[in-house]
Amino acid sequence: MGLKAVFSGVALLMVGMVGSVAVQAADLPWTFQPLPAVAEAPKDNPSTKEKLALGKQLFFDARLSITGTHSCNSCHNLSAGGEDGRAQPVGVYGRTGKRGTQTIWNAAFHTVYNWDGSANTLEEQAQKHILDPNIMGMPDAEAVVGRINAIPGYRQQFEKIFGKEAVNFKTIAMALSSYERTLTTPNSPFDRYLRGDDKAISAAAKRGIQEFIDVRCASCHFWINLAGPIPGLALQQGEGFYELFPNYPGTDYETRYSLADDLGRVYFSQEPTDTRMWRMPSLRNIAITAPYFHNGVVKTLDEAVRVMAKTQLRREVTEQQVSDIVAFLNTLTGEFPEQTLPRLPETPNRTAVAGHDH
Ligand code: HEC
Ligand code: HEC
Repeated sequence: MGLKAVFSGVALLMVGMVGSVAVQAADLPWTFQPLPAVAEAPKDNPSTKEKLALGKQLFFDARLSITGTHSCNSCHNLSAGGEDGRAQPVGVYGRTGKRGTQTIWNAAFHTVYNWDGSANTLEEQAQKHILDPNIMGMPDAEAVVGRINAIPGYRQQFEKIFGKEAVNFKTIAMALSSYERTLTTPNSPFDRYLRGDDKAISAAAKRGIQEFIDVRCASCHFWINLAGPIPGLALQQGEGFYELFPNYPGTDYETRYSLADDLGRVYFSQEPTDTRMWRMPSLRNIAITAPYFHNGVVKTLDEAVRVMAKTQLRREVTEQQVSDIVAFLNTLTGEFPEQTLPRLPETPNRTAVAGHDH
């Protein structure tokens, strides 16, 4: 709570510094930062080429799910926006969850994960998804290790990379997370603009940045992910930046889109002050990750902007303002590093997922 209050204040101060004079790209770094190309690895899980290659195989391997139907990529589609384009995910046995899939692109720049900040590290998050009955549905860590150990090509790689530790639930999560840290989309038009290329974005997008600041969207959506402080800078890994949503209760939007039905972080933390608190979501690549909000109920970006203005800031915005802000948000789509499909280690003459294929 203390952290949240402090950092909202910092953001408002930074926005205040820009004021209402026309924004110059040179002023913006106080509020925004270009997206770094590389997400730093934590000391206890340094990246190596071999570990990344292994993590990539695991990311694309449906044998990590009980039914052999779901890889991480099934929902976090790397050929697209890193999510599934759905309001609710569809996990093993057709089970659904009530919160929408968040993009995996640039997830490594968050300090906590999930809509409610319920995982402190990427490593912890990967483990949670593998064991979540509505996602990949593996019954326990032992079953996951058994699955991977039964695939000789994996066993060999784990032994080579992790030595005596070899295959365990921790090293599986470490390899996956190493790969996830490479999933960044730098060099968006907005980043090029921040670095001084005045022609990188349109006049409408420039007006949109000014509106985004004047309307005070930037008091919550700031810095590299437009989601608040980044790891190592002000917030440490495991400390989240949370905001209330809806901030102003009782709007028509709240009823129409059931925005207040899910109470957010309180279910996880059991702290009454976390009621309707949500970890700030990133706005990077937001143009290609519809539908919007934790329940995926808003289908278009312009409507999401109207909802935000009203529920978070008690502001009515004109259609011109909406279209300018959307033009700005469209400049946040970055460059996607080329991905090639990895070859997965085989289990010749047998299946690794027998007995769960109903
Ligand atoms: C069935 C769909 C599905 C599969 C499969 C899946 N995820 Fe997710 N992922 C989600 C959903 C839904 C969320 C949001 C969860 C929430 O907030 O409750 C999410 C959130 C995340 C996040 C947090 C992003 C953020 O902004 O905080 C990460 C990281 C992640 N998943 C990694 C993985 C990895 C690694 C795998 C494979 C081991 C995986 N996911 C498999 C649906 C899926
Ligand atoms: C008081 C803090 C705050 C302010 C101010 C704010 N937002 Fe948000 N924004 C949030 C939170 C929290 C969420 C996540 C809500 C949820 O779905 O649970 C969010 C979500 C969004 C989303 C959807 C993200 C997604 O992945 O679905 C968009 C788009 C967005 N905001 C844009 C804006 C714009 C544009 C403005 C200004 C009109 C704005 N926000 C003002 C806190 C804020």
